[in-house]
Amino acid sequence: MAIVTTPVLRALALEKTYAPLASGAQGLQLFRDLSLEVAAGEMVAVVGESGAGKSSLLHLLAALDKPTSGQVLCGDLDVTLLTAKQAAEFRNRDIGYVWQFHYLLPEFTALENVAMPLLARGVPRKQALTQAALWLDRVGLGDRGHHRSGELSGGEQQRVSIARALITQPKLLLADEPTGDLDNTTAQRVFDLLLGLHREHSLASVLVTHNLDFAARCDRVLRLREGRLIPA
Ligand SMILES: Nc1ncnc2c1ncn2[C@@H]1O[C@H](COP(=O)(O)OP(=O)(O)O)[C@@H](O)[C@H]1O
Ligand SMILES: [Mg+2]
Repeated sequence: MAIVTTPVLRALALEKTYAPLASGAQGLQLFRDLSLEVAAGEMVAVVGESGAGKSSLLHLLAALDKPTSGQVLCGDLDVTLLTAKQAAEFRNRDIGYVWQFHYLLPEFTALENVAMPLLARGVPRKQALTQAALWLDRVGLGDRGHHRSGELSGGEQQRVSIARALITQPKLLLADEPTGDLDNTTAQRVFDLLLGLHREHSLASVLVTHNLDFAARCDRVLRLREGRLIPA
């Protein structure tokens, strides 16, 4: 019997057009008829030249921006139809997002940064910090919880941001060049960590990367080119 897995994420016929600006900047059709499906347990790498629209695509998938037309379905939910408040709730509930530049709050401790998504959804502070300690352990930083994030190395900061992304137990992991700012050895460790957590939690993951070795270790590699995703 064939195993049928329903995709966690489906982008259907996405179009994204930026209107010309009054300043004279030209309009841009970034995506045309772009489709993507990602199943639970699958890690899809997205590669493409700088400016191809990789970050913009992740923004659409995370309901941080809306397409001009088309659908983004997470399960049965069309996230393009959500209000700003509903989109924020959707992200907090279903999405783990790892950015190239981690966006940690430098004055807060590693523990507080990791706990932030739980605090945002109203989990009591003590409980949130206990969970954060468990997650810091999982990313190998159990002894750094009380350091301010601004005092940590680039690789450590990215580990903290991975713990922050996954503490809410999301279905979907979106990572935008998470190792782009790290030296080779550190990048390798951070990628191994991401891949390990992806597998352990059977996430549906999209990894934007310029590193073709990392891309080759994903389940599929897609190239964003001329507004569409094509097998690489
Ligand atoms: N709000 C916007 N208005 C107009 N153009 C934009 C806007 N946001 C992004 N772009 C353009 O979309 C293109 C893709 O950007 P981006 O998604 O950051 O590419 P990548 O992540 O692949 O380097 C770029 O040409 C960028 O200038
Ligand atoms: Mg980008």
